[in-house]
Amino acid sequence: MPDLSTLPPDFLWGVATSAYQIEGAVRADGRKPSIWDTFCTRPGAIDNGDTGEVACDHYHRWPQDVALLRDLGVGAYRFSVAWPRVRPDGVGRVNPAGLDFYDRLVDAMLTAGIRPFVTLYHWDLPQALQDRGGWPRRETAEAFADYAALVAARLGDRVTDWCTVNEPLCVAWIGHLEGRMAPGERDLGRAVRAGHHVLLGHGLATAAIRAHAARPASIGPVLNLSPIDPASDRPADLAAARRMDGHVNRWWLDPLHGRGYPADMVDTYGIEPPVRDDDLAVIATPTDFLGVNYYFRQVVTDDPAGPAPYARQLPVPDAPHTAMDWEVHPDGLERLLVEVSEAYQPAKLLVTESGSAWPDVVAADGVIADAERTDHLERHLAACAAAVRRGAPLAGYFAWSLLDNFEWAYGYDKRFGLVHVDYQTQRRTMKASGARYADLIRTHQQPTATATPVAVRG
Ligand code: FCB
Repeated sequence: MPDLSTLPPDFLWGVATSAYQIEGAVRADGRKPSIWDTFCTRPGAIDNGDTGEVACDHYHRWPQDVALLRDLGVGAYRFSVAWPRVRPDGVGRVNPAGLDFYDRLVDAMLTAGIRPFVTLYHWDLPQALQDRGGWPRRETAEAFADYAALVAARLGDRVTDWCTVNEPLCVAWIGHLEGRMAPGERDLGRAVRAGHHVLLGHGLATAAIRAHAARPASIGPVLNLSPIDPASDRPADLAAARRMDGHVNRWWLDPLHGRGYPADMVDTYGIEPPVRDDDLAVIATPTDFLGVNYYFRQVVTDDPAGPAPYARQLPVPDAPHTAMDWEVHPDGLERLLVEVSEAYQPAKLLVTESGSAWPDVVAADGVIADAERTDHLERHLAACAAAVRRGAPLAGYFAWSLLDNFEWAYGYDKRFGLVHVDYQTQRRTMKASGARYADLIRTHQQPTATATPVAVRG
């Protein structure tokens, strides 16, 4: 058992998913396409030609999935609302059936004693908005705030926890610069504009939620961050590491914390973000927590011929790697939580995602003994406990993911779930890692003898 004793007694134990990765039912009840539906039709974009059309069919099987949350014993569940389900054209007409779906899901969670954490944007931009220019266009940020208001007005009498945008880095850099995710563009100028409007959308949505939710809301953005190490102590590699840190971490953290965009990175890109009026103040609107997704650190070398930021991640020899080829490096999570706390002083941190994909084997008796995932989970929780010991204000951990699901451009081959999904039958089976997580949660929640305060007399 990892030593988790420093995690606070009210620590939030959760799991996370996102709409496009699990829901399926892409044409049901008035939903219209998102940029991911479109991207999935692009030849070669997704491994095996997979799509999110059916995924885990969560849209129809959600009661069973809520039952799984209960089996795990989690106190919180982070899921996302599909914008194209509730407002199919991105603006204008509301689709009541879409809102009803999330309404029922939230009610079922509350009945089960599970706190809903709603993510408003986990990458499924309505295609209609992409057709008008997508995130590089300023109006998309405004449309996002309107949609946030709509969802907050409907669910905000019961939901108190809101994540605005998930991983702006992936939207901007992977979606618009590297082209490996929807909408699949390769244009630094559009990527910089997209990133700015996602941050602006976050700030505008924060105000919209506060204005429209009936209950006081706890709101934060979700960033995927990586500690960066230089591949050598050559000055060129040290500078490359600084640029990669700017690209991955500071470009997002600095403006969100009122410091504006890092000047060294504006120089590196040679492009100014399209900041207008009080955009920077809106982006730096005070929030209640910072959500951190952690998967790997990066060891980088100078790459003058490569795309921005002219630094390239190198493989780490002899280190264990997951099925995604991501290095297993739990110390990186401890370091990240401590360094972010020291540098930016967030009121509260949540690990909103952490997890790993492995080539799971279903044994003849149906058991999935996923020892590597279990070990990964325990070591990352231990890293959280170590960060708390060092003063990080960490209040919760959401394992990615509740279920095996549609892993974006990697399709269904990469399995991250604590629960296995047989995509032929849609049968769900708890893996050993899920059972272990349930044990850890139960153990942590048991009152211990030392927890009883001893009265001190003066
Ligand atoms: C994160 C995404 C999440 C999932 C994990 C593995 O970047 O937020 O949807 O794909 O990676």
